[in-house]
Amino acid sequence: MNHLSDRINKLSTSQTLAMAALARELKAQGKDIISLSLGEPDFNTPDFIKEAAKKAIDENYSTYSPVDGYVELKEAICRKFKRDNNLDYTPANIVVSTGAKQSLYNVAQVMLNEGDEVILPAPYWVSYYEIIKMSGGIPVEVPTSVESDFKITPEQLEKAITPKTKMIWYSSPCNPSGSVYSREELTALAKVLEKYPNIFVVADEIYEHINFSGTFCSVASIPGMFDRTVTVNGVAKAFAMTGWRIGYIGAPEFIAKACTKMQGQVTSGANSIAQRATITAVDADPSVLNDMVAAFKGRRDLVVGLIKDIPGLKLNVPEGAFYVFPDVSSYFGKTLRGTEIKNADDFSMYLLAEANVATVTGDAFGNPNCIRFSYATSEELLTEALRRIKEALA
Ligand SMILES: Cc1ncc(COP(=O)(O)O)c(C=O)c1O
Repeated sequence: MNHLSDRINKLSTSQTLAMAALARELKAQGKDIISLSLGEPDFNTPDFIKEAAKKAIDENYSTYSPVDGYVELKEAICRKFKRDNNLDYTPANIVVSTGAKQSLYNVAQVMLNEGDEVILPAPYWVSYYEIIKMSGGIPVEVPTSVESDFKITPEQLEKAITPKTKMIWYSSPCNPSGSVYSREELTALAKVLEKYPNIFVVADEIYEHINFSGTFCSVASIPGMFDRTVTVNGVAKAFAMTGWRIGYIGAPEFIAKACTKMQGQVTSGANSIAQRATITAVDADPSVLNDMVAAFKGRRDLVVGLIKDIPGLKLNVPEGAFYVFPDVSSYFGKTLRGTEIKNADDFSMYLLAEANVATVTGDAFGNPNCIRFSYATSEELLTEALRRIKEALA
C-alpha cells in the first residue's frame, strides 16, 4: 500500500535544491566542489537591516502578526511600489508571505481551478511549473532560445492562448536566463492581452534591483494592466535575505483577500522579526544596493567573457539576476572522456564528475538545451570553475 498521496507522488523535487544537496554531499566526502547551482547572493544582509531586527526582538515583536503582514510593513511596501514602479497600491492590495515562493503558491491556489491553463514562457523558474500543477493548473510552455534572448514575442503569446488560459507567469529579470523585458516589449505583449480581458498576469519582480540594463518595467504600470496583474516581489535577492523568508504581492483587492484567507489556514503571518526588519529594507533608497549590484555586474562580465572562450557554448548577455544560461546542445551526441553526452542532464553531471563544478540542467527550467550557472560567488572561484570546465570540455 502506498501511504503517500497522489499529490506528493506527482510532485517533482526541486532540481536546484537537489543539485545543491548533491554538491554538499560530495564536498563532505572531501571533493573540491565549486557549487554554481544555488540562487542566493553570497553577501551578508546589510547591517542597518540586522539592527532593525535586533531592535524588533528587544521591542518584543514576538507574537503572531496579522496574517497579511503588519500594517506598517504594508504601508512601506506601498511606498516602495510607488517609488520604484510607479504603482499606486494601498495596504488592502498587499499580502506579506513567507518568501515570494509562498506568495506564488497562494496566488496559484486561490486563482486556479482544475484544468485551467497557465502560459509559462520557457525558460521559467523551476517552482512555477510544480506550483501550477499542484494547484490543478496546466502549465503551457512557450519555448524561447538564446537567439531571441529567451524572450517571447507577441505572436507566440497569442498562439498559446486558448479559451482555458487563466494566467501568464513570468519573471523579469528572469531566473534562469537573466533576460529583462523592456517597457516596449511588455507593452507589445500587453497589447495582445487587450483582446483577452480575463487573462491575469503574474509578474515576478524579485530580481528587480539586480539589473544592469538601466531600465526596469513593472507590467502593472502599463495602461490597462494594473487591475489584472499580481506583482510579486521580496527581499531575498536584493537585500541578501534569503533565509529571512519575506515575500509579498501587490494585487487587486479580491485576490489579496483570497490569499490572506488561504495563508490564514496554512502558515498565518510571516515571521514577525523579519517583517519588522523588512520595513527598513523596503524603505531604504535602492542606491544602498549599488556596491552589490556593481559586484554582480563585474562577475557577469567576467563569466560571459570566460564562457565565450569555451568552444561550443552559445550565450545571450544576461541583463539581470545572477545567472548565465548557455546553450550546450552542440555537445549532444559527443563522447567526452568515455562519457556519452545525450542531453543537458548528462552535460551537467559530466561537469560535476570531471570538473567538480555543480550547475543545474536546463530541463529543470523548461529548456533542454541549456544549463544554468549562478555567478553569486567570488571572482576567484568563478575563474577557477570556468578554467576547469574549459579543460573538461577540451
Ligand atoms: C524567480 C524567483 N522567484 C521567486 C523566488 C523565491 O523567492 P523567496 O526566497 O522570497 O521565496 C526565487 C528564488 O530563487 C526566484 O528565483
